[in-house]
Amino acid sequence: MSRPKVQVTREVFDEVLDFLGQHFEVSSNQDDRPFTPTELAQALADKQGALTVLTDRIDDALLIRCPQLKAVCNIAVGYNNFDLKAMSARGVLGTNTPGVLDAATADFTWALILATARRLTEAEAWLRAGEWQGWKLKQFLGMDVQGATLGIIGMGRIGQAVAKRARGFDMPVLYYNRTRLVPALERECNARHATLDELLAQSDIVTLHTPYSADSHHLIGAAQLAQMKKTAILIHAARGGVVDDVALITALNSGTIAAAGLDVFENEPKFNPEFLKLRNVVLAPHIASATTNTRRNMAMLAARNLVAALTGARPPNLLKPDALK
Ligand code: DGY
Repeated sequence: MSRPKVQVTREVFDEVLDFLGQHFEVSSNQDDRPFTPTELAQALADKQGALTVLTDRIDDALLIRCPQLKAVCNIAVGYNNFDLKAMSARGVLGTNTPGVLDAATADFTWALILATARRLTEAEAWLRAGEWQGWKLKQFLGMDVQGATLGIIGMGRIGQAVAKRARGFDMPVLYYNRTRLVPALERECNARHATLDELLAQSDIVTLHTPYSADSHHLIGAAQLAQMKKTAILIHAARGGVVDDVALITALNSGTIAAAGLDVFENEPKFNPEFLKLRNVVLAPHIASATTNTRRNMAMLAARNLVAALTGARPPNLLKPDALK
């Protein structure tokens, strides 16, 4: 009997290909050049399954050209590249990779918090440029993280992991989330539920951990930035589009807020070049989950989802058709 055909849309670890190869006839884009939408549709036209990444858009325009497709498994916890309604209407399952990247993403959020508060990349660039003439009392003065109020927007697994790490810095933690955590979890995270207005007005550090959807599009725009303290910093390692980048650039230029640490942008990788002119930003190329173990675990989890989906089992991370509106 012929084995199902699957496409891996970007480079993955060899062990992932080996695992998939035990079950499927595998085509893999190990060159790692992103497919255009047309190339993606061509690659999936005769496939039953796909292992995708966040830049592969799975929508009706693609699905109509891929009649054999039964399952698309994202190597990402975010899945705003899926039109789940269209997938469900055509009987295509979608999965993501929750859980395995929480620690790495929370750690990187803290790297951004500390680098931004202590102006690390700005100071390094200055040192590399040969500007350092000697020690000065007032050189690169930053803000104290210890004891500062941390505001977490989006208190899912990653937000909670960020909150738990704040204990070591003796920080009061506020959080804003559609659903309030149960009291035991609030105690575990040492976090107090707040309205978005309260959180923005009271926090010294605001960090975003909410998925991107129509509901969270530009959740942080000019009006919300204006509610923050002038001394506050914004940390964003969620998904491009949750923040209005033009409004953020204006706020950073005009001193509406003090600084920002950013791992994600609108229109990646062609982000707004005005960010590069700003001194008060720390910039990273969407690498919050990028540790070897974490990326390997994400890819293996996606592969396990694909095997389950195409062998008649329930994939461990099956997405509901209405998961993101
Ligand atoms: C995710 O998992 O959604 C990340 O953004 C990918 O690194």
